[in-house]
Amino acid sequence: MNQIQAVYNGKFDFLDKIKISPLSRAYTFSDSVYEVIPFYNLKIIAFDKHILRLKNSCKALSIAINIDATSEEIMHLIKQCDFKDGYVYYQASRGVDDIRSHIYKESISTETFGYIVEHAFKPKSLKVMFCEDLRWQRCDIKSTSLLGNVMSMNFASEKGCDEVIMHKNDLITEGGASNIFFINNDCVYTPSLSHNILPGITRELLITKIKESGIRVEEGQYTIDDLINAKSIWLTSSTKGLAQVSEILDYKTNLEMDNMLFKKCEEIFKNNFFI
Ligand code: PDD
Repeated sequence: MNQIQAVYNGKFDFLDKIKISPLSRAYTFSDSVYEVIPFYNLKIIAFDKHILRLKNSCKALSIAINIDATSEEIMHLIKQCDFKDGYVYYQASRGVDDIRSHIYKESISTETFGYIVEHAFKPKSLKVMFCEDLRWQRCDIKSTSLLGNVMSMNFASEKGCDEVIMHKNDLITEGGASNIFFINNDCVYTPSLSHNILPGITRELLITKIKESGIRVEEGQYTIDDLINAKSIWLTSSTKGLAQVSEILDYKTNLEMDNMLFKKCEEIFKNNFFI
């Protein structure tokens, strides 16, 4: 296996050479935030939006970050790599404690870590299952505290599913690692932004482009029934791109895999992201 390039606290090295303290608050408390920044044909997709979201996540948790240095590190990882398609995973933690303590000392300094992954952006249709959204109440912060997502996605994986669609008391929130869209009556619907979902960058870009093409997009609150009755459902993320849902475990759906409006949205996605 090729050696994977990484960066830890500003110093570049191979991933397997990096040593991290077990008292990193990323390790003990998930006191950290992250980004996944995709690039295709060596072109970074929505770099500024990812950097801004990382800045906002840090701000929400009062984690100090040198965002210019971070931007340069991410770009350097991409420039030096010998593949064309992939993503950079980058995380910022509050730092390393002297002794584990919920309340951190103001004196600790931010710990940053990033590495680069080769990734083929291949459209894939997904089998999903519904699950109760088990997560905390600030899912709009891109924190590494992802136990709710991890538990649900692994449970779904054991049942032969690729992803989950989460709901809070019947209201759809998002996928385990993606945002959700569906089609009914010639309109595209997606749950509106709230503290319960991540403001996905793929979501935002896609909404803008679909609207520009004259297709109606509505953001609101939707239920499991809305999805059962949908003609088309898809999930978006920086690594999945746009992935159509083909099946929902234990439910009979009305999904039309060759739905015309879906095909248009997929085309818009491809023409704007993968060029
Ligand atoms: N996750 N919602 C959740 C819970 C996510 O984890 C993600 C992405 C998204 C989509 O956001 P974006 O379009 O900005 O990638 C929505 C990344 C890919 C991950 O955790 O690996």
